[in-house]
This record gives sequence, C-alpha cells and structure tokens, in this order.
Amino acid sequence: MAHEELKRRQSVMWGAGSFDEVAEFLGDVHEAVAEALLPADGERWLDLACGTGRIAELAARAGATVVGIDLAPALIETAQARARERGLEIDYRVGDAERLDGVEDAAFDSVSSSFGIMFAPDQVAAAGQLARVTRSGGRIALANWAPDGSIGTFFRTMGPFQPAPPPSNPLLWGDEEHVRGLLGETFELSFERRTSPLEWESGAAMWDFMSTKFGPLVTLARSLDAARAAELRGAVTGLGEQMRMGDKVVDVRDYLLITGTRR
Ligand SMILES: C[S@@+](CC[C@H](N)C(=O)[O-])C[C@H]1O[C@@H](n2cnc3c(N)ncnc32)[C@H](O)[C@@H]1O
Repeated sequence: MAHEELKRRQSVMWGAGSFDEVAEFLGDVHEAVAEALLPADGERWLDLACGTGRIAELAARAGATVVGIDLAPALIETAQARARERGLEIDYRVGDAERLDGVEDAAFDSVSSSFGIMFAPDQVAAAGQLARVTRSGGRIALANWAPDGSIGTFFRTMGPFQPAPPPSNPLLWGDEEHVRGLLGETFELSFERRTSPLEWESGAAMWDFMSTKFGPLVTLARSLDAARAAELRGAVTGLGEQMRMGDKVVDVRDYLLITGTRR
C-alpha cells in the first residue's frame, strides 16, 4: 500500500475506539519522557504524534510553550477539549511527522514523542524532520516499544490478520542500532531499556478493553468476517494468558527510552 494511502487510513484508525483511555495506562511513560526533557520553563516544546496530549499537558504545566502535532483529527479534538478543561494553553495541530509543514527549521528546544513517531511509515523522512525542527543543542526524548517485548508480540499477533504487511516495521524504532542509523549523525544519543508493567484480570479482559479502545485493534476486528474475528479474539486472548502470573496477567511492556542532543 502506498505511504499516502496508508497514512490516510491511519489518520482514521487511531481515532477509532477511545485512545485516551489507553493513554491513561501510559502515564508512567509520559512522565519519564517529560522528565527527560525538564526543566522546561520558557522552552519551545513540540510533542510529535501527541495523541490526546498527555505529554503536551505535562510540558505546558512545567512552563513550556507547547505545540502538539498528530495525524488523527479525532485525537487532536480530544486533546483540545482536555486542554480547555484543564485551563492549559497548547497549540494543537493536525499534521504528519514525515512532513511538518509550517514548522520552521530549528523551531524547538525540546521535542518528545511517545509511541508516536515510530508509526510514521517513512522512517527516514520522520527522522529527518526531527533533526530539522530541533535547534542545535536542543533535546529529544522518544519512547518506542521494544521489538522483543510484549507489545512487539502483540503487534506480531495482529499481523497475520492484516490485509497486507506494513511498508516498514514500526518496532525497529525500539532497536538501538536501527535508531543510531536514523538519528546518530544528527543527535548525540543515549538509550535506556525500561518497562511499563500493566496488569489484567485475564487474557479475555485484555481483549475486551483493547478491542473496544485501541484504534488499530478496533479497526482490524471490524474489518474481518465473524469467523476470522473470532480467531483474532482467540489469538489475543491466548497471548494474554501466556503472560499469566498466578491470579493475574502481567503485561511487562518493554520499551526503549531514547534521549538525544542535537549536534
Ligand atoms: C500509540 S499512539 C500514542 C499517542 C501519544 N503520543 C501517547 O503516548 O499517548 C500513536 C499516535 O501516533 C500518531 N501518528 C501515527 N502516524 C503519524 C504520523 N505520520 N504523523 C503524526 N502522528 C502520527 C497517531 O495518530 C497516534 O495518535
């Protein structure tokens, strides 16, 4: 599938379900990413692929002047509503991490992205934009799911049910060597492997939540006929049960925290 068509679909897919309820379970990661870039008083901060704006809110509360950009209009609307409710001033825009139209070179002191930039299919273009909009001496913090962690397994479980393989593998953004290849020339990089454990009552509970809240799974399940949808449900439920520890399921969720300073 051509990149532009894929991104058009992704802009709708991420808005399906209720991503903000999924984001609530990423609070520890949002804090880790924001802390990696603090202090922020007076800094110009971009949260790229910001979703419903939870990192943007942390940055704004720390005194930064914040722009949040995301491909999915529905998520930008939720982010705007959240900011209004919280009395925060954040400049939210619908946009593409691969082509940050209207953003000047070196416009930001800090750029963050949690499980965001990794989903842009043209990884070289997205990495190039990250370098373009971060000022010399400015900093980035990115959280990306590790390919060999539980979320990597979750995405691979969905894979056989997809109509076609994606043109690039988002999980490569969780691989240190790959990220060095994308950003090593433009940023001085550091890497830290972390986990964000999440507990479920059962594999079935994990399916019930993710298949109604997490846009990519909601969209995939809706696209299948009843028999295939039941197989997907069985595969995801089974994956959850493989993570059982006694009376609960523990999803370890390994990720790579990448920090960098623009050369
Ligand atoms: C897993 S969500 C993470 C959202 C948010 N960063 C968070 O941690 O709560 C992935 C986000 O990446 C966005 N996204 C995917 N491809 C994108 C692109 N090419 N440009 C900008 N945003 C993109 C999606 O719309 C979605 O909001």
